[in-house]
Amino acid sequence: MKKILHILRRESAQARPYWEDFYFETQDAGATVATALSSLHAENRISPAQGSRFRPVIWEHSCLQKRCGACSMIIDGVPALACDTRLSQLKGDTVRLEPLRKFPVVADLLVDRSVMMENLKDLSVWLEAEAGAGSEDMAFEASRCLQCGLCLEICPNFAAGGSFSGMAAMAPLSRLIARLPEEQRKQTARNYKKGVYSGCGKSLACRDVCPAEIKIDELLVKSNAAAVWNRWNSIK
Ligand code: SF4
Ligand code: FES
Repeated sequence: MKKILHILRRESAQARPYWEDFYFETQDAGATVATALSSLHAENRISPAQGSRFRPVIWEHSCLQKRCGACSMIIDGVPALACDTRLSQLKGDTVRLEPLRKFPVVADLLVDRSVMMENLKDLSVWLEAEAGAGSEDMAFEASRCLQCGLCLEICPNFAAGGSFSGMAAMAPLSRLIARLPEEQRKQTARNYKKGVYSGCGKSLACRDVCPAEIKIDELLVKSNAAAVWNRWNSIK
């Protein structure tokens, strides 16, 4: 299999962006975009198509197993994980790679997603006391969130620095809602209304890009019912 990686590059946040092409060839039918990016430094496997001076492509990754959410980027126009996107799934000879657009670019495909953590801190998404098991199904579903940010990239209502924290905050808040003892839920419910409910336009575009395939619509219905309408039985 042969592919050309067409990558939107930038040396730093202030530098001008430019496109650069790299050739990639492999016998591995299961090779992913992450495989190709990881091979950038291997001699004779990939080289600048125009023979230009080589500067290593900067991108973020860790687990390479669809667990950490670090390798989020835009692949052929669609927000996706590099380690979860097989080259064989992509049509055409050229694969277009761009950094996420909702977050500040650090360099090349690396963006600064710290706004997600700031939002979680702002909404107090942590346990201050031991929590009961509660409704395991809802808590388990919510706990599968990778904090990858792909849902924020596709969301028509999310903007970094805005008051809506998106589904990346909804999932952990839902987990809290499902697990917190009743007397501690009030503040979490207030935070949920402020950070999630009041800004969500329910486009549910997030559901279609979530790599963890979290049932976001079901989680949203249950969390809204509990935190907004005080129907706590709905999470049982
Ligand atoms: S809800 Fe899905 S898309 Fe959004 S941050 Fe969590 S895992 Fe990523
Ligand atoms: S590197 Fe961890 S999800 Fe892709």
